[in-house]
Amino acid sequence: MEFLPEKVDQYAHNHTSPESDALAKLNRETQAKILRPRMLSGHLQGRILAMFSHMIKPKRILEIGTYTGYSAICMAEGLSADGKLHTIDINEELDDMVKSYAQAANVSDKIVTHIGDATAIIPTLNESWDIVFIDADKENYSLYFDLIIDKMSKGGYIIADNVLWSGKVVEPLNPKDEETRSLLAFNKKVQDDARVENVLLPVRDGLMVCRVL
Ligand SMILES: C[S@@+](CC[C@H](N)C(=O)[O-])C[C@H]1O[C@@H](n2cnc3c(N)ncnc32)[C@H](O)[C@@H]1O
Repeated sequence: MEFLPEKVDQYAHNHTSPESDALAKLNRETQAKILRPRMLSGHLQGRILAMFSHMIKPKRILEIGTYTGYSAICMAEGLSADGKLHTIDINEELDDMVKSYAQAANVSDKIVTHIGDATAIIPTLNESWDIVFIDADKENYSLYFDLIIDKMSKGGYIIADNVLWSGKVVEPLNPKDEETRSLLAFNKKVQDDARVENVLLPVRDGLMVCRVL
């Protein structure tokens, strides 16, 4: 589901800096060859993530849900000179693709990929995160928030994707729909948590942006 009328969405894309050649190629290859290409952040959201990263100039970024690496490469653009982005995915099949596009985008020395279940890997990473991008299994969003909140740098940002879930968060809940139930719980949890200030941006499928106080 698109929230913006198609013409307005197209206008926004047309007035956003274009993707680099490497990102455009990665986007095309993902659409052509990889299952569930809608999972990729895409041009507009990718430029938003890159813009956030340039504004924050993070030293450490954690991404939960790498997929083909599009959002990781976008966020890596804004890392400080000695910065690193750690990204976790449970699916090892895409790791070679991620690495080859990170190289094409000249950020391979800044991206560290981890293969496995993020709920097990996050506690093993001893870093202070300036940005965490949550973009994996929706059922675990609240758990991911709990696993990272004490590892955030003061003034760090937690960004969670798909929090509008194609608008299902405002429709009557199907009792069997665990993903929507989990996203409703996550959005409420963030809204009620005094440790963060948050804004839900109705961009693409909804980005929850939290500033850690
Ligand atoms: C929406 S995609 C990520 C898209 C990517 N961030 C982007 O914007 O291009 C979600 C990814 O999360 C991964 N994933 C799902 N459950 C996971 C888990 N428990 N631990 C780690 N990765 C997981 C999936 O394999 C999938 O590649």
